[in-house]
Amino acid sequence: MTELRDKYLTAIAAAPDEDALEDLRVTAVGKKGEVSLKMRELGKMTPEERQVAGPALNALKDEINSALAARKQALGDAALDERLRTEWLDVSLPARGRRQGTIHPISQVSEEVTAIFADMGFAVAEGPQIETDWYNFDALNIPGHHPARAEMDTFYMHRSADDERPPHVLRTHTSPVQIRTMQAQGAPLRIIAPGRVYRADYDQTHTPMFHQVEGLAIDRDISMANLKWTLEEFVKAFFEVDNVELRFRASHFPFTEPSAEVDIRCSWQDGTLKVGEGDDWLEILGSGMVHPKVLEAGNIDPSQWQGFAFGLGIDRIAMLKYGIPDLRAFFDSDLRWLRHYGFAGLDVPTLHGGLSR
Ligand code: PHE
Repeated sequence: MTELRDKYLTAIAAAPDEDALEDLRVTAVGKKGEVSLKMRELGKMTPEERQVAGPALNALKDEINSALAARKQALGDAALDERLRTEWLDVSLPARGRRQGTIHPISQVSEEVTAIFADMGFAVAEGPQIETDWYNFDALNIPGHHPARAEMDTFYMHRSADDERPPHVLRTHTSPVQIRTMQAQGAPLRIIAPGRVYRADYDQTHTPMFHQVEGLAIDRDISMANLKWTLEEFVKAFFEVDNVELRFRASHFPFTEPSAEVDIRCSWQDGTLKVGEGDDWLEILGSGMVHPKVLEAGNIDPSQWQGFAFGLGIDRIAMLKYGIPDLRAFFDSDLRWLRHYGFAGLDVPTLHGGLSR
């Protein structure tokens, strides 16, 4: 018995892994293991012999079982230590560099604008880029003969003379989303609609495809004062300055009455733009109180509801905020330009984290 004890306790202490340990368990205390076979021999012994051998065999079995358990625990601990050592990760390391592709300034600025208006309770709405001329013009109080149709340099979709469908255009502004949202949601509502728009125009500040954000707020007693406050809050947050001065200039849009174009006080020094100071004014958006005919086109009763709307050029404010001189380069897909003006993928703009950091 002493021999058995020494043999197994030594082997168990030296077992390299759990498989070896299991083999030892089977050969020692398994059903046909050495200790178990010895226990079967108890029956052939005299009662006196049995009284000595029985307890001794049981004690040996217990001793081997606890040695097995202790070794198993030790092997498990060692395996865990090894995993903790090799799978260790330094979560304080800086994030990977930004050179694996960048976020386009238009995407960045759209996210920034969305974050700011979301904070003021505006939801995001969308509409199609290929629009019927009714949504793009008529519903917005721009009838067929209206000069605004010609002014907008509209792209018309090709159609044959016998085409029954209404004429379609590439939308010239995001304002048709006003109508679609009014029809879909009714009043009250508060939305912005960022997206692509198209006009046949091309120079340093115009491309045939560009981006706007439409804003629309409708309620029982919305006024120009609400419009002014909202736009001031937006401009402060977007340009990340505490003081801004906006100038509302009387203007004309068929879909708003009264209408105002909004300029922002700024200065140009050595080609860099500073917002909020200086003697220059820069036009950034068109706006006004929604025309009653536009509310009607959106199935909203103008005797019950009123609201403001605005349309802001995303490309324009991106150029201003990030000092990008030529709009055409935005859409050239030049990798050097994208790397220079692009944003890191992990810099998701939030109001609390900083919009453009
Ligand atoms: N849709 C106008 C444009 O494209 C901008 C605008 C929107 C003006 C909403 C007033 C109200 O120029």
